[in-house]
Amino acid sequence: MEKLSTQVAIIGSGPAGLLLGQLLYKAGIDHLIIEQRSADYVAARIRAGILEQVSVDLLRKAGVAENLEKYGLPHDGIEILTHQKKHRINLNKLTGGKQVTVYGQTEVTKDLMQARESQQLQTFYEADNVRIHDFDTQPYVTFDNKRQSFRIDCQFIAGCDGFHGVCRASVPQEKIKTFEKVYPFGWLGVLADVPPVSEELIYVQSERGFALCSMRSNTRSRYYIQVPITDSVENWSDEAFWAELKNRLDEDSRNKLVTGASIEKSIAPLRSFITEPMRFGKLFLAGDAAHIVPPTGAKGLNLAASDIGFLAEAFIEYFNRHSEHGIDNYSQKCLARVWKAERFSWWMTHLLHRFDTESEFDHRMKQAELSYILESFAGQSSLAENYVGLPFEADVKLAALNA
Ligand code: APR
Ligand code: PHB
Repeated sequence: MEKLSTQVAIIGSGPAGLLLGQLLYKAGIDHLIIEQRSADYVAARIRAGILEQVSVDLLRKAGVAENLEKYGLPHDGIEILTHQKKHRINLNKLTGGKQVTVYGQTEVTKDLMQARESQQLQTFYEADNVRIHDFDTQPYVTFDNKRQSFRIDCQFIAGCDGFHGVCRASVPQEKIKTFEKVYPFGWLGVLADVPPVSEELIYVQSERGFALCSMRSNTRSRYYIQVPITDSVENWSDEAFWAELKNRLDEDSRNKLVTGASIEKSIAPLRSFITEPMRFGKLFLAGDAAHIVPPTGAKGLNLAASDIGFLAEAFIEYFNRHSEHGIDNYSQKCLARVWKAERFSWWMTHLLHRFDTESEFDHRMKQAELSYILESFAGQSSLAENYVGLPFEADVKLAALNA
């Protein structure tokens, strides 16, 4: 067995693990990444593509925003389509100047992997039998790689290994509480090299179910339609997909939609999931390992980034300023943000999707809620404030109201 040691062992090289590695490197903190898949697999995964300002700022701080600044598309608004009519939510004006940036998670991952490679930081790809040990006392990680067994002694373990990872699963049941909601539908997504139907994203509420028109660039589009969770990709030819998408759009969008061969087609299930706490002794969970949001509202990657912002800061405080304040407050700080993003994603999912189980009363209530949101300044402001990403501090204007 080969023995190594490091300050922080990071399990998983998704965006969470990679970003943490990059921030630790910048701060001069020694770390390793252990990933079960191959580098090619990690770099090719297709995921969402909307970054909040705080995520962009963090990637900039990590020194990996060059491509993002060159190719990212800043968006000042989104459209909500209901009853054949589009309503623009002016994110920028409603939030005092904030924006979101369209830039694929696949690109974020590639930029981080490239930085890692040029800095010659160590990543064990295709690691088998990854196990974490003694995270209450003297943590270490064991795994097999290229027919060799490894043991890595470390001061902390960062569990960035996604929903199905080994870290959360290693915590004794009595020490962890989870909260979950599984939705009875999925998103059938298609990626195609066709220009987007509209300059801005269109979230579609229709009697036939939800749809979303998104993009990766001015020449690459990403579209989704709500399908039953029991459906399978084999049931959907490209033609069938485009026909159903058109059925859910308004006439103007239908006429403008450019169709083409799909580059990728898959069905993603929708789930809300939260783990409490996010710290167990010297093990810290971050990103999808700790929580899952349904994709409506695009919070998944952004929540992972904000966890990592807190975790990197906590490790920097510990190693460079000899303070345990950051690590002691990590879980509570993350969870305060996580629950609010979970609420927004759950709410937007409810509002815009068709649920077969809902009564006529529930359905009409949702219609009333949506028309309230679209007609009210307060309603639109609330949607916009959440969509661009909630501020880290409570609004100071609020405190002034009753002063
Ligand atoms: N050992 C090592 N690595 C593992 C293990 C394991 N036992 N289990 C999983 N992994 C790896 C996965 O192969 C993957 O590369 O951990 C990584 C987790 O990455 P993600 O699933 O992308 O999770 P995260 O980095 O938290 O990113 C969150 O990704 O899924 C989206 O919506 C989500 O946008 C959000 C973002
Ligand atoms: C995407 O572009 O993949 C995307 C955009 C917005 C969402 C979800 C996914 O809310």
